Amino acid sequence: MSPMNQPRKNAEEQAALWNGSAGQSWVAAQELLDGMLEPFERLLVDVAVAKPRQAVLDVGCGTGATTVALAKRLGSAAVVGVDLSQPMLEHARLRAQREGSTATFIRADAEVYPFEPASFDLVVSRFGVMFFDDTVRAFSNLRRAARAEAELFAIAWRSPSENPFMTAAERAAAPLLPALPARDPDGPGQFRFANASGVARTLEQSGWSEVELSPLDVECSFPERDLERYLTRLGPLGRALQDADEATKERVLSVVRSAFDAYVHGDQVRFNAACWGIAARARGA
Ligand SMILES: C[S@@+](CC[C@H](N)C(=O)[O-])C[C@H]1O[C@@H](n2cnc3c(N)ncnc32)[C@H](O)[C@@H]1O
Repeated sequence: MSPMNQPRKNAEEQAALWNGSAGQSWVAAQELLDGMLEPFERLLVDVAVAKPRQAVLDVGCGTGATTVALAKRLGSAAVVGVDLSQPMLEHARLRAQREGSTATFIRADAEVYPFEPASFDLVVSRFGVMFFDDTVRAFSNLRRAARAEAELFAIAWRSPSENPFMTAAERAAAPLLPALPARDPDGPGQFRFANASGVARTLEQSGWSEVELSPLDVECSFPERDLERYLTRLGPLGRALQDADEATKERVLSVVRSAFDAYVHGDQVRFNAACWGIAARARGA
């Protein structure tokens, strides 16, 4: 079987995850996540409004917070969100309707979807580009969707060691849940873009130039009353706990919760999000 015909196992797994437990969890925690990630929404809007835009693509737009914010600020520009998760897009569409937004949405795998060629002058993403099966194939597809000289600006996490908040739950739970799967740094997942030179190489191989990765250190916060929900719904621990019995859940939660004491300041949970701002330009034909 040629590589092109091989089943895209990662893609199938990601589609199952985002249409299943991860997608449901993001919808359930949407308000918490929108508040926590709002500084990045502002950042993407600032990038977008810096120049006149006609058509913007938001990749892995999820429940649509950034897509709707971009449409609101860009006025007449066409803003399109693409995502493979049915439950998250359903939420995005409801949000757009509720806010009278002109944003539109496509349910598709952005790695292979046949976008109208050369139709976008800006491609953005807030944490939506680390889950592809084949990253070069995906960014080549996004390059085809972009006009020559179009800009790309994506936000992705730096390494787990620079983001201890993001891994504190699984570290604390590990002795109690030995079957908790370890993260694969090279496979689709939150930290896939930690390695700056690897990301730059991927983009250059995919038809993007002037690639620049800038570290972004951003303080994020959410209400302390949501911490338990955060721990039991999101990330690898949240996923593992969904299948656990109540006694295990309680035991794990009491241990894990104390690992977060350092992040609790009054009624807020605060942490530093160590990310990359990934900028690039679509190479001319
Ligand atoms: C971490 S969430 C971020 C969601 C949103 N950008 C936000 O910041 O709220 C990642 C999103 O990428 C989407 N995603 C993962 N793989 C994708 C793919 N191949 N094509 C389109 N969307 C994808 C998921 O469904 C999910 O909505």
